Amino acid sequence: MFTSTMATRKTIYVKIGGSTITEKGAKQPKPRMDRIRSFCSEVKQVVSSGTQLILAHGGGSYAHPFAARHSLDAGLTLKNRIGVTETRYWLTELSQIFLREFLRASLPVVVFHPSSLVYKSSSGWTPFLTPIKLALENEITPLLMGDVVFAEDTGVAILSADDMPLLLLDVVDEVLFLVDVPGVMDKRGRVLRVVRKKDLVDIGKTSASTIDVTGGMEEKVKKALLLAEKGKKVRIAGYKEKGDLLKALNGLSGTEIILDY
Ligand SMILES: Nc1ncnc2c1ncn2[C@@H]1O[C@H](COP(=O)(O)OP(=O)(O)OP(=O)(O)O)[C@@H](O)[C@H]1O
Ligand SMILES: [Mg+2]
Repeated sequence: MFTSTMATRKTIYVKIGGSTITEKGAKQPKPRMDRIRSFCSEVKQVVSSGTQLILAHGGGSYAHPFAARHSLDAGLTLKNRIGVTETRYWLTELSQIFLREFLRASLPVVVFHPSSLVYKSSSGWTPFLTPIKLALENEITPLLMGDVVFAEDTGVAILSADDMPLLLLDVVDEVLFLVDVPGVMDKRGRVLRVVRKKDLVDIGKTSASTIDVTGGMEEKVKKALLLAEKGKKVRIAGYKEKGDLLKALNGLSGTEIILDY
């Protein structure tokens, strides 16, 4: 069972996907408040039991449609700067919804905007993580998000919340990606208990019906494999109602992403 104590404290990166906390296909940003509320109250339970979490939320209908409309994934042009403001405005609105719930649950949480901690250079993402480490040391749970960050070559780039744990390798022991489906599915829609690199051919071409400027499930699995290569325990599981977070943390739901040996 999932019974962590202060003595055996580990840090788990939990990303709650925009696919489950928002109506991702909606024309306007639309939260799924019941899921956000139940997730936040489960987080309170887990953190109170002594496990450190780094939280992140995806963008869903609060980000992908704006980033796509302004083509932010292709970088800055003369005309799309306002798209940076618009996308980050809505992402902040979503973070505020989470913060309200954490205040209600009396759990100390602080939002970190990756755009102020990370930029993209020719050698890749360059992070400044000390504030996140200090928050953890002080028992304040960091809440990150997918974000539009500055980039040396293209002006801006999209940093997915699925990318963030790769920048937090020295802080994070395990990674959990929560989505609106029960896990990674094969072509026939069956949930795979385990995914290895060779299974990518089976899952890659299943397409989502919603806009995702960061590559959807296929990219998520690729990032999960990179994390597994770095020795992290990684799981992709569903979140729809209270109890689903604990189930996933206990390895009782979803798909474990493991290395090929
Ligand atoms: N093989 C597959 N197994 C499971 N889901 C798949 C698969 N192929 C495509 N999908 C789609 O991937 C979606 C989840 O990925 P998506 O990137 O949309 O969610 P997310 O990362 O939670 O959202 P966000 O990027 O807004 O945080 C599911 O809703 C599902 O429709
Ligand atoms: Mg996504």
